[in-house]
Amino acid sequence: SAAAVIERRCRTFRVPVHRWLACATQDITIQQWDSDEPIPRSELLAGVAGKHGLLCLLSERIDKEVLDAAGSNLKIISTLSVGVDHLALEEIKKRGIRVGYTPDILTDATAELSVALLLAACRRLPESAEAVKNGGWTTWKPLWMCGYGLSDSTVGIIGLGRIGQAVARRLKPFGVKKFLYTGSRPKPESAVEFQADFVPLTKLAEESDFVVVTCSLTPDTKGMCDKDFFSRMKKTSVLINTSRGAVVNQEDLYQALVSGQIAAAGLDVTTPEPLPTDHPLLSLKNCVILPHIGSATYATRSAMSVLAANNLLAGLKGESMPNELQL
Ligand code: NDP
Ligand code: DGY
Repeated sequence: SAAAVIERRCRTFRVPVHRWLACATQDITIQQWDSDEPIPRSELLAGVAGKHGLLCLLSERIDKEVLDAAGSNLKIISTLSVGVDHLALEEIKKRGIRVGYTPDILTDATAELSVALLLAACRRLPESAEAVKNGGWTTWKPLWMCGYGLSDSTVGIIGLGRIGQAVARRLKPFGVKKFLYTGSRPKPESAVEFQADFVPLTKLAEESDFVVVTCSLTPDTKGMCDKDFFSRMKKTSVLINTSRGAVVNQEDLYQALVSGQIAAAGLDVTTPEPLPTDHPLLSLKNCVILPHIGSATYATRSAMSVLAANNLLAGLKGESMPNELQL
């Protein structure tokens, strides 16, 4: 089948699936933006007109303007992401458009990166590596480059979903004493593995040594980690965000880090992306910032590409998609 051809070629050549879609499908005409750089908005608006399906990235805002430009032919949107905050879901639902997305296959890679970022921030890895290069390493000193470890700690997870659980699973063997989590409702079936307690956000802030943000971005979670949240955290605590930048109020985070209200932060996601190189957060030694690389392994991106293509193809054929978002 076309999907099998795509899958084989992507695995062999480690390239995004859209490069192969055009040659692997005979009965579908593909118009593609053939670049790793994002498509300019004007090209997207012009290119989408009259199309039946759209395969998009999280960097493309699919809003009313794009949907209007597409017109009534558009029936399928397939996004190369598990996050869907870039899609105007209400408008999409109203128009009867089906949405495919890429859950599960990126959970391990994103959880692994979350743990790497947590360790980098709490054990001051970038700062230490920099000191080796710039002469800051003068000798072994008892308190130099000390940070905070996971052993005997309390870890609070904001959003114990697929990625939140995978993070907890990886952190447990480090000797974490207690897991807390928050969300829209208790999830005893997910929490039992970690004996995690469901707590209100305020209690999670007050009691956690590490706060890991792994929720989806929604109107409820936007700006959730703000001044009040940071003021409740311990001065020795570390915040990690691998969800979406907008869950954290960055001005409030900057103040919390500068004033020593919290010890450190690790962000894989920011607002905006990319973060301007003169952004105040980038001047801080106790803030480790990565360029949204949670799912960035060759195998994961390849699997995401294949899944996104299969979602699109199934949707276009009127079949059930491997992963369809319930709207
Ligand atoms: P899931 O849907 O499995 O988990 C999302 C979690 O968010 C759920 O546990 C949900 O809890 C929680 N949540 C929703 N509302 C709230 C709230 N008000 N307070 C606290 N928690 C809330 O998704 P995944 O784990 O697969 O992915 C999570 C997010 O991670 C994605 O939406 C995406 O934005 C981001 N992501 C980032 C990546 C990166 O590269 N950095 C890679 C992949 C994903 P409940 O069910 O109780 O509402
Ligand atoms: C997603 O899938 O939502 C990530 O942010 C990128 O993999």
